[in-house]
Amino acid sequence: MKREAILGMIERYGVQTPCYIFDTDELTDRVRRIQSELAVCGSKLCFAIKANPFLIPALDAVISGYEVCSPGELEICRADGIDGEKIIFSGVVKSEANIRTALTYPVGTITVESYHQWQLLKAAAAATGRGTKVFLRLSSGAQFGMERETVLQIAEELQAEPQITFGGIHFFAGTQRKGCKYEKELPVLAELMEELREKYGTEDMILEYGPGLAVPYFEGDSFENPFEGIQNLAAYIASKQYPFRVNIELGRYIAASCGHYVTQIVDCKSAEERRYCLVDGGIHHVVYYGQNMAMRKPIVHHIAAGEQDGEEQEYMICGSLCTFADLLVRGLPLRNPRIGDLLVFDQIGAYSVTEAAYLFLSRNLPAVYFYSEAKGLRSVREPLEAWKINAGKG
Ligand SMILES: Cc1ncc(COP(=O)(O)O)c(C=O)c1O
Repeated sequence: MKREAILGMIERYGVQTPCYIFDTDELTDRVRRIQSELAVCGSKLCFAIKANPFLIPALDAVISGYEVCSPGELEICRADGIDGEKIIFSGVVKSEANIRTALTYPVGTITVESYHQWQLLKAAAAATGRGTKVFLRLSSGAQFGMERETVLQIAEELQAEPQITFGGIHFFAGTQRKGCKYEKELPVLAELMEELREKYGTEDMILEYGPGLAVPYFEGDSFENPFEGIQNLAAYIASKQYPFRVNIELGRYIAASCGHYVTQIVDCKSAEERRYCLVDGGIHHVVYYGQNMAMRKPIVHHIAAGEQDGEEQEYMICGSLCTFADLLVRGLPLRNPRIGDLLVFDQIGAYSVTEAAYLFLSRNLPAVYFYSEAKGLRSVREPLEAWKINAGKG
């Protein structure tokens, strides 16, 4: 229903294309629903802002935490007036200066990802005279976080640092993970939590867990129950009755469904028996995890300027970059697409706005709009000129 309202609004009033539209009603409804599912296991929800930092002001009234992963992300929080208590400042690379900035913000929690980071944190705390709570990040087998032994060593050393409080363990498993992989991870994490609780007895120790819950993107994916992943995870955690709280850190699962990307058909042609629609956007604005060179079809709506007459035929939807890779959809069935028509791509609220290859060819960065039933469509960012970033002083 909301999607129909947005499509109707684009049709009636128009938008600057290419653009992203983030439906803040969908976003806040979804967050409330995820939180109500988590009530059975007492978990709090934390938004990994890397998925889409534009959403912070729309989310702030409904979410209890943010995972903030770089100095730039921290400055976005500052600009949005975010209460530091809600922030977990993480990141595999943090300089002492970055940590000092976080301490003086002050953020509620800082993660430690290596023994070196632990040294930097102690130095930054001494230099600023500020304390903090820390989460020790356990590695899931990549460059992020630390081995179990290092976690245990730092937990021990923490006892001698009165201004630094041990808050718990941080663990990020991966992204777009289907199924119940947490059934293998959580027992291992729970064992570590138990060991730490026994040794140091911290009653309010938290397991900050990023399960990387998957979202549907393509034809053939199941869009039926958009809350199945969180329901299963919450039921599993509840069944274990852990003596510590497991907080859930999510990006994609919170943000994907609220986003639409609107691009305009600016040329139509045929070549070697293939029909092409060229659009004013492209892959420099659109990232669907697992799309695999446009082999899979995302959900796309066609808003035609005129009648959508004629037979449905398949089109290659190509963007405005100078590369064969700029293929948004291979073989999208459309009815008589014409120059000026719009294509609206769904499920674009997570990672497109932050992960896309914006600077290739120095084309403008898309406009960004918020939509809500109460406020309608409003611009939250004008298009940005990429050429200014790509031009040196000469
Ligand atoms: C530490 C951390 N937490 C949470 C997330 C969010 O992951 P997802 O968007 O799959 O929920 C990420 C993503 O890279 C991450 O690095």
